[in-house]
This record gives sequence, structure tokens and C-alpha cells, in this order.
Amino acid sequence: MKKILLLHTLLLSLFLAAGCAEKPKPQLTENQKAGLRKDAKEFLDSLKNVLVKEMQTNGIVAAVAVCSDTAQILTVNYGFSKGIYIKRVSLKYRNPNNAPDGFESKVLNHFSELNSVGKLDGNSEFFEVINSDGVYNVRYMKPIFVQAPCLNCHGSNEQISPDVKTLIQNKYPDDKATGYYPDELRGAVSIQKTL
Ligand code: HEC
Repeated sequence: MKKILLLHTLLLSLFLAAGCAEKPKPQLTENQKAGLRKDAKEFLDSLKNVLVKEMQTNGIVAAVAVCSDTAQILTVNYGFSKGIYIKRVSLKYRNPNNAPDGFESKVLNHFSELNSVGKLDGNSEFFEVINSDGVYNVRYMKPIFVQAPCLNCHGSNEQISPDVKTLIQNKYPDDKATGYYPDELRGAVSIQKTL
């Protein structure tokens, strides 16, 4: 009986020790926050530069191809070069690769609600530190808004030219990313990084 009691006490203290040894959830420093903002901006700027340049030099139809092939390559390369998970996500996505995971859907819904009451702007962002299997990761999301030129490919049926429509429909038969209007929430940049 004594032995069993001793064993229980031993197990309990091991359990408590393990509990105490768990690191407290780290707080994000201002430097870490600034780094995430910088990555998101740099990534979006690089995508936008390619798009604008192609639209100006070769027109919208050519830009569709650039968007669809280059966007995925640029995204993978950017994440790889920085050693982070980064992508664009949207509740109404064009490319199924850009479908949000559970966390991203939750934040996108939160952003949509804020936007519908005029409380979302260029400075809005979302941070969360999560513990995944004992490793702390930060998840960061920043909204992407629709601007007038986006409507050439994300606007209403009348705003998208027949050539562009055909290209998009061939490449993305289940496209959900049309019918937008300016200032609407188009999606978000999503970053995940180990702390
Ligand atoms: C020339 C056509 C074109 C224009 C203009 C355009 N897009 Fe797109 N957009 C696309 C294509 C094609 C994809 C799918 C890219 C992929 O395969 O990752 C896409 C995907 C996206 C995505 C990723 C989510 C999804 O739906 O797959 C976001 C976010 C996005 N566009 C935002 C914008 C914004 C904001 C603008 C304006 C600044 C814009 N786009 C202008 C063609 C365009």
C-alpha cells in the first residue's frame, strides 16, 4: 500500500514538474510585430508591381496569365527565402490553393464584420501566438482591399471583358472571386512564423 502511495506521489510530482516546465506563452515584441508587417508589405508590393507592370505593358489579358502563374511562384519563393509560411487567402477565392484554413477563416470573418461597420482600414491587422506541439508560432493577418483596377478581373460580369472571363474560367472553373466592388475586403495576407 505504501509503495502504491509512493508511486502516486512520484507520478504526481513528475506531472507537476512537467506542467511547471512548460514555457509561458511568449509576448510579441514590437520588433517582431514590425518584422511581420514588413514581410506582408514587401510580399504584397512585389505581387502588385508585377501585376501593374504587365497590365501597363501588355494589357489585362496578358496580366491574367502572369497573375495565375507568377502569383503562386512568387508566393512560394518569398516564403522560402524568409523561412516563413506566407500566402494570400480569401473566403471567396479564385485559386483553391488560396482557400483559408480554420484560423484564417475565423480572422477573415472577423475582418469582414469590422469592414461592414467601417472599422477596418489599411492599419488593421491581427496577431496571435499559438502553441503547436510545444512550439510557439505567431500567426499574422493583414487585410487586402479591392481597388478600382482589380475590377478588371474581380468585378461584375460587365466589368470583366469576355477574353479575360474565358481565360479565368478555363484556368479556375470554380472561381468565386468576382462581383467585388471598391473598398470591399478581398482577402488577407497570412503569415505564420516560429518564435
Ligand atoms: C489581370 C487580372 C487580375 C487583376 C487586375 C487582379 N487580379 Fe487578383 N487574381 C487574379 C488571378 C488570376 C488570381 C489567382 C492567382 C493564383 O492562382 O494564385 C488572383 C488572385 C487574387 C487573390 C488571392 C485569393 C484568390 O482569390 O485566389 C487576391 C487576394 C487578389 N487576387 C487580390 C487582387 C487585388 C486586391 C487586385 C487589385 C489591386 C487584384 N487582385 C487584381 C487576377 C487578377
